[in-house]
Amino acid sequence: MTETAPAPYAGPKRILSGVQTSGSLHLGNYLGAIVKFVRLQEEAECFYFLADLHAITVWQDPAKLAGQMREVAAAFIASGVNPNKAAIFPQSAVPEHAELAWIFNCVARLGWLDRMTQFKEKSGQHKERSSVGLYTYPVLQAADILVYKATHVPVGEDQKQHLELTRDIAQKFNNDFGAPGFFPITEPVIEGPGARIMSLRDGAAKMSKSDPSDNSRINLLDEADAIAQKIRKAKTDPEPLPETLDELKLRPEADNLVGIYAALAGRPKAEVLAQFTGQGFGAFKPALAELAVERMRPIGDEMRRLMADPTEIDKVLKAGVEKARAVAGPVVAETKTLVGFWDAKA
Ligand code: AMP
Ligand code: TRP
Repeated sequence: MTETAPAPYAGPKRILSGVQTSGSLHLGNYLGAIVKFVRLQEEAECFYFLADLHAITVWQDPAKLAGQMREVAAAFIASGVNPNKAAIFPQSAVPEHAELAWIFNCVARLGWLDRMTQFKEKSGQHKERSSVGLYTYPVLQAADILVYKATHVPVGEDQKQHLELTRDIAQKFNNDFGAPGFFPITEPVIEGPGARIMSLRDGAAKMSKSDPSDNSRINLLDEADAIAQKIRKAKTDPEPLPETLDELKLRPEADNLVGIYAALAGRPKAEVLAQFTGQGFGAFKPALAELAVERMRPIGDEMRRLMADPTEIDKVLKAGVEKARAVAGPVVAETKTLVGFWDAKA
């Protein structure tokens, strides 16, 4: 992939991210992405969307899809995303995403997509039976971002490669169509201890909604006793917590729990380690459970309240779609002009 030079992009700072509507959200989504959505909404115009076009790259029950979408919207709002500051909307309700994605399908190269590790992981042994959408998924993601000319994208570590592809597509489009600085070279926002939360059962596997063991993750809709019990049962080792981060790194499960504590508390990992150094998990786990329940319980409660009556969420989504289309519409129109399409309005 090509190295990107600093962008001569002159547009405003814009923040965007999306979360797939493919099932329940967990602590990894919350700490890796949603917490950052809340923080960044103070800094610039924000677009946070429900990625239902991405969700259907693998089979989704049509009877459940809209409910899953509202659940993600509820998670955003319950976590503190403010609909007056950020546009919250379903991806499928803004047709400009799919329209730009087609143009980008003709900009991106097969060789670039062949390197995407997430496709390899998700398609597994059955590549030929995967949907074509699953393969071209990162191209749609680039369109999601660039249709708003977003400059900053808060995501978990697993999305790094997709963000690099987005930068390559922007660069190639700008070069191919003689439009330097038309699309920004987007910066990922992936810092902090929450960027890669691991399974509670295996320190080498990412916390994920597709893990068959529900004990591997804390779901945003888990009740307080389930949260505490999952932390109590989390895999650890018999040693007390070490003094240094280097020593901690050699113990992935312990490292993960300290990272979760730090991310939940909004404190550096080193500071949390200094507080608990020398203590065993008999002391650390209850402290972590208490913090996790304190932080997560109000979010779950508020999600349940919002989901009980869809009118409030649907109002937010309608306003979000309007805000989104007002930005995406002109960007797609300009893009089509650059490509050379006939303009019916001219
Ligand atoms: P997804 O549910 O795959 O659409 O992911 C939504 C957001 O959560 C993305 O920004 C992911 O990078 C992030 N994410 C998912 N799993 C984790 C995890 N285990 N740790 C940190 N971030 C995660
Ligand atoms: N692929 C992302 C994920 O699985 C979701 C996503 C779709 C996204 N489009 C995006 C994230 C645009 C950031 C920006 O987590």
